[in-house]
Amino acid sequence: MKSASAAALVLVDPSQFPAQVERDLLAALRRRQANHKFHYDSVKQAQKWLRVHEAFSPARRDDEGARLYATAGAALAESWQVNAVQVVGLGCGGGRKDVALIRELARRGRSVGYVPLDVSLPLTLVAREAALAELPPERIQPVVCDVAVCGDLNGLLAPLRPAGAARCYTFFGMVPNFEPGACLPSLAGLLEASDRLLVSANLAPGDDYASGVARVLPQYDNAPTRDWLLTWLEDLGVETRRDGGLRFQVEAAPGGSPLRRIAAYFDFHKSQTLRVAGETFIFQPGESFRLFFSYRHTPELLRGQLAGVGLRVEASWILPSGEEGVFLCRPVPTPRRPGP
Ligand SMILES: C[S@@+](CC[C@H](N)C(=O)[O-])C[C@H]1O[C@@H](n2cnc3c(N)ncnc32)[C@H](O)[C@@H]1O
Repeated sequence: MKSASAAALVLVDPSQFPAQVERDLLAALRRRQANHKFHYDSVKQAQKWLRVHEAFSPARRDDEGARLYATAGAALAESWQVNAVQVVGLGCGGGRKDVALIRELARRGRSVGYVPLDVSLPLTLVAREAALAELPPERIQPVVCDVAVCGDLNGLLAPLRPAGAARCYTFFGMVPNFEPGACLPSLAGLLEASDRLLVSANLAPGDDYASGVARVLPQYDNAPTRDWLLTWLEDLGVETRRDGGLRFQVEAAPGGSPLRRIAAYFDFHKSQTLRVAGETFIFQPGESFRLFFSYRHTPELLRGQLAGVGLRVEASWILPSGEEGVFLCRPVPTPRRPGP
């Protein structure tokens, strides 16, 4: 199916227009907390992240990992009796997981379309390229959008739904990078009764949650991930080798949530002044800047979060290592009010 790589029309939501991205950048610098989206912005960062993902993602480690998303896609295709499906990959990254799903749907006779959606223009284009192995270009509509900032995701996506098509939204690898409760409510609001949602998350392996989270720390605290995360600070003008050091730690979620996460902080050892968009930011020795966090869930913790926003998990597939799982969700039907 792969056709010569022609020009791509990309839809860009105002949530990723330069003025908004600059506001988000200033907010991050004031808070001393990076927004995850900044780590995927440029071609350089996107390529570095793709390599980190290839080296450390449980889904890329072995054959079982590679099969996880195809297995989930095949099961969905067997159980979901619709003719036409549009897959909307929210935070699509390089698109490999979405494409595994698309392949299984297409193999079972579904007419499939794809909306790879991401904050990162380079990654939406990488995902589009990957999908060209399965779909003609006119069935793929890349969208650049920040799902956390976009005021009306429904309004943005509604005109892209082909007449009569059901939607399968994917939210792969995204839940870990948002504070609990930050994104799932608006995600649940996207689903019509005939739609489906596939969510995946990195999990804490083993029976003991806290030690399971600690065990996966080396998947984050390693040279390629350090290099990827520091790129953002370096591109802002911080000399990361001279001015401080990167520290990874396991920590509890704020606000009393039972979740734990792996977080990365840049600790300033020397004072540093940055001028960004006319504003001056002074970092003193001893100050820390949070660059990244990734929540690790258990299947039960994730189910609980999904149930909290009215989503029922109908099926799930967990890697034998216990490190990654895919969850098929549907909206819990709301009881019809009796008529007058
Ligand atoms: C951990 S990666 C997951 C990528 C892919 N879904 C996968 O599982 O391989 C997170 C992706 O979400 C994107 N992203 C981060 N914040 C986002 C936001 N606020 N809105 C949309 N995409 C976002 C990043 O650019 C990146 O591609």
